[in-house]
Amino acid sequence: MRKLAAGNWKMNGSPMSLTEVTLLVKEHPAPRCEMLLCPPATLIAQMAWHVRGAALKVGGQDCHTAASGAHTGDISAQMLADAGAAYVILGHSERRADHGETDALVRAKAEAAWDAGLTAILCLGETGAQRDAGTTLRVVGEQLAGSVPDGATAANTVIAYEPVWAIGTGRTPTLDEIAEVHGFLRAALAKRFGAEAAEMRLLYGGSVKPSNAAEIFAVPDVDGALVGGASLKAADFGAIVAALSA
Ligand code: 13P
Repeated sequence: MRKLAAGNWKMNGSPMSLTEVTLLVKEHPAPRCEMLLCPPATLIAQMAWHVRGAALKVGGQDCHTAASGAHTGDISAQMLADAGAAYVILGHSERRADHGETDALVRAKAEAAWDAGLTAILCLGETGAQRDAGTTLRVVGEQLAGSVPDGATAANTVIAYEPVWAIGTGRTPTLDEIAEVHGFLRAALAKRFGAEAAEMRLLYGGSVKPSNAAEIFAVPDVDGALVGGASLKAADFGAIVAALSA
């Protein structure tokens, strides 16, 4: 399995930010892990052109379920692929919260992503209240069952566990808590997809930074990270890539 360091720029970045990308690919010309940045849609084509031939893949942060049509403001998976994307993040908690995205919608988007040849990074995670109530495993289990389509393979699907309360807060679960959720997700995938589950990448996301990356990557069943804030700077994201490549 090739591990994955994925950066989610969210609604950040401008053409000026490509200087950070230049630095990143210069410092990490041949990482042992896969390296991915998901900028806002406006920068995908530019970034993909900028890093052509380099060991950096580019992805989107959302797509529509339809291939084309009367959906003002939306972007189809095929359009992301045409712009140079290889991946798309789907069902991020910010989209579930800001746009009311349901598991069923996320599942339909994943199928659209596959149709366009993209690998879907499907996000799930509990809120702080759900963790406090002791329902974390039930919540992520339901999200996994509802968001991941039946045709999932290690090639077309990546799962990202992102506790909502750990996103952008500087707080992270304990290593034991991460291990518990990732072990649970691996077992749930194995029950549904058999041997394929061992090859599916499970990313941890939520306040990953250079100072905690190595210890998080040492947790069993953590196959990479989905990084927000720390993916905006080449030095920080590069350090995380280096930790995953170690
Ligand atoms: P932060 O790394 O900024 O906490 O964001 C995590 C995230 O939401 C990535 O998708």
